[in-house]
Amino acid sequence: MVDIVDGPEVSALLGELTTLTGRDDPYPRYRRLREISPVVRADDGALVVTRHADCAAVARDARLGHMPAHMLAFVGLPDWEQSPALRQLFTSMLALNPPDHTRLRRLVSSAFTPRRVQALRPAVERMVDDLLDGLDGEADFIASFAFPLPVNVIGELLGVPPADRPPFQSLVRDWSQVIEVMTPDVLATADPAAATMREILGGLIAERRRDPRDDLLSALVATEEGGDRLTSDELVTMAALLFAAGFETTTNLLGNGLVALLEHPGQVPALAADPATAVEELLRYDSPVQIVGRVAWEPTTIGGAAMEPGDRVVAYLGAGNRDPERFADPDRLDLSRTDNAPLSFGGGIHYCLGAPLARLEAQVAFPALLRRFPALELAGRPVRRDSLTIRGYTELTVNFSEK
Ligand code: HEM
Repeated sequence: MVDIVDGPEVSALLGELTTLTGRDDPYPRYRRLREISPVVRADDGALVVTRHADCAAVARDARLGHMPAHMLAFVGLPDWEQSPALRQLFTSMLALNPPDHTRLRRLVSSAFTPRRVQALRPAVERMVDDLLDGLDGEADFIASFAFPLPVNVIGELLGVPPADRPPFQSLVRDWSQVIEVMTPDVLATADPAAATMREILGGLIAERRRDPRDDLLSALVATEEGGDRLTSDELVTMAALLFAAGFETTTNLLGNGLVALLEHPGQVPALAADPATAVEELLRYDSPVQIVGRVAWEPTTIGGAAMEPGDRVVAYLGAGNRDPERFADPDRLDLSRTDNAPLSFGGGIHYCLGAPLARLEAQVAFPALLRRFPALELAGRPVRRDSLTIRGYTELTVNFSEK
């Protein structure tokens, strides 16, 4: 058995990761944590794993799961059902365990198929070209490209009319804060945002019931498996989850990926030669989602350390993605890397449902962007987003130059 290590050094390293400096370059801290022990204990008691195999095990082990709703009262959230924002989070597939998760995942998977995603390719190519047409000189890459692209793509897929998409940008941002912070302050903006999202999506779903179209909302309304269907409330929650999960993360794949490419100009030909292989490496190198958390239900062993029921376990995906036991020369960006296995989409039963869509967007966007603007360069210091879970930039000023 491996010893779970805590103490001043672990505490200091984990503390640094919550500061802006630590977040700017977490990778040396992840490396040191991995060296100290496969499993360390944070000051709040959570067990942190940083190796590739252990992060994958946390995502896959059925003896670990999410905090069930009936336990939320014991972690300071007795009134979660009264909060539209918390209800929308805790009744969504992302936060549920089997068998509720299994049922919702099966129903959505029968509508959100790889075929539906592939059929979207021409529309994604058109949206990328339209956005590129509007770029010139110095501009913020996040606001002018990395944010609007995924919003429009997920809007197109679901069937949210273009005029209704812009409000979702701020609504989803305001709501999704609750994934990390659930204080009354945050709920004061997250609750009205969730309520408004539900109203708009509820209206669109009612329209699709009356008048089905060729979009994912209509497919979700029609979905039926063995006599089972999604209720109206479940439909709204699922659509809200797809919207939220579908763009903040992809925005950051585009932003983080662009910074990595601009810092390694010699790698650009490899991107053009094989965008699919290159995007896997961009996902590995600087993952938009850095951590996933679980709770142990039953005794289990992760990283050679014993976990007891009730233990909170946090997998640092960004650290596992740089594990030298899994990746040769892990701190090197190598867009031709084969046998890649980024943890960036998680694993096990909650493996990212939108992974094919996110990959499609990045595989279309990066080559088109660098073809159109071969002299693209950073113009100013990128502004880092203040979050431990989501890694990315809030502002990324670049010079869109065609020569
Ligand atoms: C789940 C990452 C894009 C929909 C997840 C998880 C990760 C992740 C790590 C697992 C969370 C956990 O185990 O606790 C990402 C990244 C993306 C991305 C890095 C972009 C680069 C998308 C897109 C969509 C989407 C485009 C939808 C259109 C979902 C959904 C789940 C999920 C619905 C929950 C699945 C479940 O609980 O069964 N994603 N995601 N994601 N993702 Fe993504």
